[in-house]
Amino acid sequence: MKLMDIYARLRGDISYIEKELERSIDTEHAVLNEASLHLLKAGGKRIRPVFVLLAGELGTYDLERLKRVAVPLELIHMASLVHDDVIDNANTRRGQLTVKSKWDNRVAMYTGDYIYAKALTIVTQLENPVIHRILSKAMLEMCIGEMEQIRDFFNTEQTVRNYLLRIRRKTALLIAISCQLGAVASEAKPELARRMYNFGYNVGMAFQIRDDILDLLGTEKQLGKPPGSDMRQGNITLPVLFALQESSIREELLHEISTIRDADGQADTYRVIQLIRGSKGVDRADAMAAKYIEKAIAALDILPDNKTRKNFKDIAHFIGKRLH
Ligand code: IPE
Ligand code: IPE
Ligand code: MG
Ligand code: MG
Repeated sequence: MKLMDIYARLRGDISYIEKELERSIDTEHAVLNEASLHLLKAGGKRIRPVFVLLAGELGTYDLERLKRVAVPLELIHMASLVHDDVIDNANTRRGQLTVKSKWDNRVAMYTGDYIYAKALTIVTQLENPVIHRILSKAMLEMCIGEMEQIRDFFNTEQTVRNYLLRIRRKTALLIAISCQLGAVASEAKPELARRMYNFGYNVGMAFQIRDDILDLLGTEKQLGKPPGSDMRQGNITLPVLFALQESSIREELLHEISTIRDADGQADTYRVIQLIRGSKGVDRADAMAAKYIEKAIAALDILPDNKTRKNFKDIAHFIGKRLH
């Protein structure tokens, strides 16, 4: 099933959010305007706003209120991508040139900051300090997650636990609060908001594990960027950590990884990817993603058995197997 088919029911409201996103980044400053619009127009799954809208159905659904969390959450995600592409030295995203590549790193840093600031401008239109607190905490954690990633580049001694803590911060929390804030903004029962957080957290963990698997298995067309980027930049992901546990390939893998480190971003990753693909690393990572998806679905059990719950469940299944 395609993602778009799952949320076909929400199509009208999603297009409204899309227009609001465009409106939100509008500025007279030409470069900021073009750079933000460039990323927005390149597409993206908009999974975070979709979660906000769906969770908004658990209370009193009010699109005007929900948009004030849905738009900032997508903006925060976008800003983090603009900065992430600087850190990862990535030239393409969503099938287009990255901001840092089409312009330069300085433009990317300020475009990211600009988009973050816009997110705050919108969410503060809601006079609910709980929402502001949840959002700013997630932004702080994301920042730490990205810093931890830099710290752990090429660290082949890191544990699976390190990896999980890092992706929790850099990815899962934002998805968790997208689900939670949809419920909070619609004044759903606190227990439902907690469950939504739990659902989003588990889906978010699976989301990043799949992202890391796809970086090893996907094609450029599927990914909108060249595969193997994680390995080239030294981001040691879950399949790699599992592959490193296999004694028959560990030494060669370590050797390949150190060669990549010494090549300073210009390495040929063919052999290392071949080694990982030949190991049990990908299957083991996939199995872990599937466990997170199971937990996410279990968190839905207190929801009434209706379309909302079914959509959440279908999206969770989609994410557990996603190819883009
Ligand atoms: C990419 O996120 C970065 C990760 C957290 C893995 P998405 O896969 O949601 O990116 P878009 O918005 O669809 O491009
Ligand atoms: C997710 O990490 C990025 C953020 C949470 C900011 P990745 O570095 O894996 O994302 P992609 O693969 O570049 O989209
Ligand atoms: Mg990246
Ligand atoms: Mg990635």
